[in-house]
Amino acid sequence: MVTTRPLPVFSSKVFFAPMAGVSDPALRLLCCENGAGLVFTELTSIHAIVAKEKELGLQGRGIHEFVQFSEKERPVAVQLFGSDIDVLVKAAKIVEPYFDIIDYNMGCPAPHITCQMAGAALLQKPELTRTIFRALVGAVSKPVTLKMRCGVKESNRLLFLDIAKIACDEGISMITLHPRTVDQGYSGKADWSLIKMLKESVSIPVCGNGDVCSPEDVIKMMNETGCDYVMVGRAACNNPFFFSQANEYIRTGRYAAITFQERLRHFFVYLDYSSNYSINFANIKMQAMNFTKGSVGGARVREKLIFVHNVEELRLLLEEAYDAKNNYGERN
Ligand SMILES: Cc1cc2nc3c(=O)[nH]c(=O)nc-3n(C[C@H](O)[C@H](O)[C@H](O)COP(=O)(O)O)c2cc1C
Repeated sequence: MVTTRPLPVFSSKVFFAPMAGVSDPALRLLCCENGAGLVFTELTSIHAIVAKEKELGLQGRGIHEFVQFSEKERPVAVQLFGSDIDVLVKAAKIVEPYFDIIDYNMGCPAPHITCQMAGAALLQKPELTRTIFRALVGAVSKPVTLKMRCGVKESNRLLFLDIAKIACDEGISMITLHPRTVDQGYSGKADWSLIKMLKESVSIPVCGNGDVCSPEDVIKMMNETGCDYVMVGRAACNNPFFFSQANEYIRTGRYAAITFQERLRHFFVYLDYSSNYSINFANIKMQAMNFTKGSVGGARVREKLIFVHNVEELRLLLEEAYDAKNNYGERN
């Protein structure tokens, strides 16, 4: 049994989820400024890290130009996927100096990831998983955490319990559980009773995840499952203010609502921050789509968004939406 490494001190129990194409450094920074206790990079291939390190190194540049982040995000976790042990060890050593936590992905259900024996495919490979955890914890001195789904299909939805036991044996410092099977994708409901089961079966911190849609849900998940932390994905990706609301609700039992105008103001800050990083314009456009969801008139803005070609055009369009408060109205 390996001693578990302590986690950093978090300013909040509410974390922002790793989300491919969404949790870019600009949005993460905005979430941090709004009170997220921990943020994660999107899942990153260990093979890509090793290859990029070589390429960038030859040009006298560093891996932080590939896995981008800012000091203001700390604590920040880098999420890795991939199961080739030698490459994993190399990749972990490359990113370790920059990040506070190394998170390992066993949750991704996407076929292009699972076909590489990575992501959630590993839930069915306990011995390989043990080797991975041992190698990863052995390679770095920072805390290593795990994020997983509960199982692959309905009949093995408790696979997470075996993996959690291995994780504890091998020195993993925290487990995040998204209690849906791979087969479920995002359908049905996240089964929070499995988070409770996990919490009762391990001695390390547990982070609950899945279908937390409001600050009320944060408290509900903590009360129902006993989890130590709550990770929020979709509900925060168009509303970084979610973290301020959740923290206020935890502290006082109340929280301020956010208007469409305020949400757009956050988006303008996002746009400013995004200019400091190399973020694909397609991703920035998708963030704009997200930020305008759930608002009266948002659909009209999104129709026009399809035709914008650069950040300036996008900013102009959203400034029009911002100014046209009376036309668009507010829902939230
Ligand atoms: C667009 C998108 C991208 C995602 N990318 C990742 C990822 O890179 N790594 C990961 O562990 N989970 C990823 N997830 C899963 C989320 O982190 C989270 O587990 C899931 O959305 C459930 O939480 P929620 O109900 O709060 O959204 C992604 C989810 C979505 C919707």
